[in-house]
Amino acid sequence: MDEVKCPAGPSVALMIESPPLPVNRAVAVHYKGMRGRPRPDWGKLDSQGLNTTCQEEKAMAVRALLHYALEVPDLSVGEKFYRNFGLVDAPSRDDTVRLRPAPLKRETVLLYPGPRKRLHHLAFGAPGDELDAVKASLRKAGVRELDPPRGAPEGGIWIRDPDGNAVNIRSEGRELPPADPPLTLNSPGRIARVAARGCPEGREARPRRLGHVLLFTPDPDRQIDFYTRALGMRLSDRSRSIVAFLRCTTDHHNLAFLASKGPGFHHGSFEVGSIDEIALGAQRMLDAGCEPGWGVGRHVIGSNFFYYTRDPWGSFAEYFHDLDYIPEHCAWEARDFPEQDAIYRWGPPLPDYFGHNTELD
Ligand SMILES: [Fe+2]
Repeated sequence: MDEVKCPAGPSVALMIESPPLPVNRAVAVHYKGMRGRPRPDWGKLDSQGLNTTCQEEKAMAVRALLHYALEVPDLSVGEKFYRNFGLVDAPSRDDTVRLRPAPLKRETVLLYPGPRKRLHHLAFGAPGDELDAVKASLRKAGVRELDPPRGAPEGGIWIRDPDGNAVNIRSEGRELPPADPPLTLNSPGRIARVAARGCPEGREARPRRLGHVLLFTPDPDRQIDFYTRALGMRLSDRSRSIVAFLRCTTDHHNLAFLASKGPGFHHGSFEVGSIDEIALGAQRMLDAGCEPGWGVGRHVIGSNFFYYTRDPWGSFAEYFHDLDYIPEHCAWEARDFPEQDAIYRWGPPLPDYFGHNTELD
C-alpha cells in the first residue's frame, strides 16, 4: 500500500484503500448539506447552507458501489454491447447476463429480461459492522426494508430510494484490480521515458472496475438528502439543481444525479488505464456500429477524462481515467459550480441526446 499525505487537511498520513473504520468511531470530516433542505443530523452547514465545517461526525456507512442491474428487451444485444465495451462474462446460474471487468472476480453489470430498458437495482457494499450501521440509519430515517425483486441476488437488505429505485446493500467490501505500473509520460522538464517508444501497443480499452453510476431524477435534492442521511454517502460537488455527485469511497463520485422529469438510468462508468485507452475504446465502439457518443473530453467536476459510448437503449457506458481522489479523512470543500462551467473543460460540443431520458419517451 502507498502512503499519501492529505494536502488540504490536517497533516496526517493516510493509507490508500485502508480498511474501513468502525462506523461509530467519531472522525473529523467535512460535510456539505443542501440548500433549502432540512438539516441532517450529522451535518453542520455554513451561512450559505452549502459548505462544510470540520467536526466530529459518523464515518460513511455504505463503502462500495458493487454493481448495477438493468432490465433490457434483448439480453443478447446487451451482452454483445458490454463485451464490445470490454467487459467479460461472469458465471451465471440462471438466464441473467452477468458481466465484469476482466481483472475482477465479481460481476458489476447484471442484465435481466424486461419489456424496455430501465434500472433494475443498484447494489452497494457495507462490510462487517457497516451493515448494522446502515440498518440503524435506515430505521432512523424511517425507511422500510423490502423483499428482493424477483430473480435478484440473494443476501443483504433491500430498500427503495425516494424515486422508487431498488437498492440492495450487501455485507461485502470493495474489490479492486491490481495496480497498473506507473504511466511513463514525458512532460516539459520531466522525462519519465528514455530511449523507449511511447505509442501504446494495445488497441482496445480494458475496463478495470466500475466507478460510478449516474441516474436521472426529478428531484436531485431529495436524492442527495436520502443517500447522505440514510446511507451515509457524501456530497462531493454539484451544479445548482442540475447535477450532483456523491461518494462512498475515495473516488470523487460513485453515484450521481441529473435532473429530469422522471427517474432513469443514464450511464455506468468504468476506469481504464490511460487517455489512450479511452480513445481506443471509443473508436472500437464506433467500429462495432455504435452510434456516436460524447467525448473524448475532460470533465470539470471530477476532473476525469471521459468518453461516453451510446448503448443500444439510448443511455451510455463511460470510460474514465484520472478521476479526483478524496481520502476519507481529508478536507474536501464541496463546491456548487455555475452550470456554464461544470461539465467539461474541453471536448466536442455536448450533444442534445446526452441529457435525454429515453425512459420517459
Ligand atoms: Fe460519469
